[in-house]
Amino acid sequence: MAREEWSSTLGFILASIGSAVGIGNIWRFPYIVGANGGGAFLIPFLIAVCLFGLPLMVLELAIGRSTGTSVVSAFGSIRQRFTAAGLLIVAIVSLILGYYLVIASWVLAYALFFVIGRPVEFGAFTDSYLPLAFFLLSGLAVYVTVRSGVREGIERASRYLIPVLLVILLFLVAFSLTEPGAVEGIGFYLSPDFSRLTDPAVWIAAFGQAFFSLSVGMGILLTFGSYLKREALFRNAAIIAGADILIAVLAGLAIFPLVFTAGLDPAAGVNLVFITLPTAFTEIRYGMLLGALFFLMLFAAALTSAVSMLEVPVAALMDSYGYPRKRATLLVFAAIMLLGLPSALSYTALNLEAFGMPFLDLADYAFGTIGLIVAGLIVSVVGGWFMNRTRIYEEIGGCGWQQRAYMALIRYGVPAILLITLIGSFFRVGG
Ligand code: PHE
Repeated sequence: MAREEWSSTLGFILASIGSAVGIGNIWRFPYIVGANGGGAFLIPFLIAVCLFGLPLMVLELAIGRSTGTSVVSAFGSIRQRFTAAGLLIVAIVSLILGYYLVIASWVLAYALFFVIGRPVEFGAFTDSYLPLAFFLLSGLAVYVTVRSGVREGIERASRYLIPVLLVILLFLVAFSLTEPGAVEGIGFYLSPDFSRLTDPAVWIAAFGQAFFSLSVGMGILLTFGSYLKREALFRNAAIIAGADILIAVLAGLAIFPLVFTAGLDPAAGVNLVFITLPTAFTEIRYGMLLGALFFLMLFAAALTSAVSMLEVPVAALMDSYGYPRKRATLLVFAAIMLLGLPSALSYTALNLEAFGMPFLDLADYAFGTIGLIVAGLIVSVVGGWFMNRTRIYEEIGGCGWQQRAYMALIRYGVPAILLITLIGSFFRVGG
């Protein structure tokens, strides 16, 4: 059977925006900004995105488009022995998806609670076994989408959900900015503290957030690139990254004014979205409606990201082992539910822990932070050092000075920054 292709450039761009825009934009970005110098954080963040995230995005797309296959077989075609590196990336994405789905399932639960007008406290929710039902439900939603294929599933989901997400977000921002807490909220969020820029931890946070938010280095864009006809890769990657940044910045504008309007302190981490914000929604006017809209929007974002992650192992099974899509999706879905189960159980009445923390928190650190960086390193080294350079130049439109500068960045700059981020991430957990 012929390889599936996106129905159009727009379809590909929307699917990639769907992958990039996720829980990382709407929940993680705002509190990272608040905790790392406010508006000043945008400087290291934009540098991280433009100078390092974007080149890696383009490299992934180039590898996928040029080899015309997904990560395991693409790496295998570069050098036979890199098949193992491809498999490692597939494993890391699958492990990330396992716990990402758990967070997505809480979002789904909260959306439902607000829709029926009966918000439940996070503590009460996770003290039951109800989260497991939602874990299965959101897993099923992702499964059904990927099972339907590249065009009919992945692309279609983003075609509908990304515009809806944007409309809800703009509505929330407009509402928030007219609330009494707007000035204080924006002040907390964006007033720049330039003195923080001398702190290496702020820069490491910027690089970590940039790579996570762009979904880069995970073989996702590589797989998406393999469904792409000839395209201007740089321009498309820039559009995807631009949309990703815009939605992240807007999310903070929607969130913080509401928190301050309700007279609450902005919390960092899990608490912001699952404790502080729901409390705010119960205290401000139209809170139930706003809460329902907010969590539905967040679920749309999470779903399209999870879908893109699931496609990586599914495409690998199809390309490397000749599985038909439906069977591959079912198999991977079952595996992901098992991989995610310990994380799901860690926020139930069972309180499953490892190394003194909820299993999910450990998974986020081991796979979502360290694993993600390791995967990015592998992609940049395999693509930058071992792939035939002529083929990369063909994909990025020639070998003028811009393309040569780009190549130098990919071979030296990106691995160096990833290595520094990796070392920084090791220390952060001790502190
Ligand atoms: N980029 C997604 C987000 O911002 C998360 C993600 C990370 C998706 C890694 C795929 C791979 O939530």
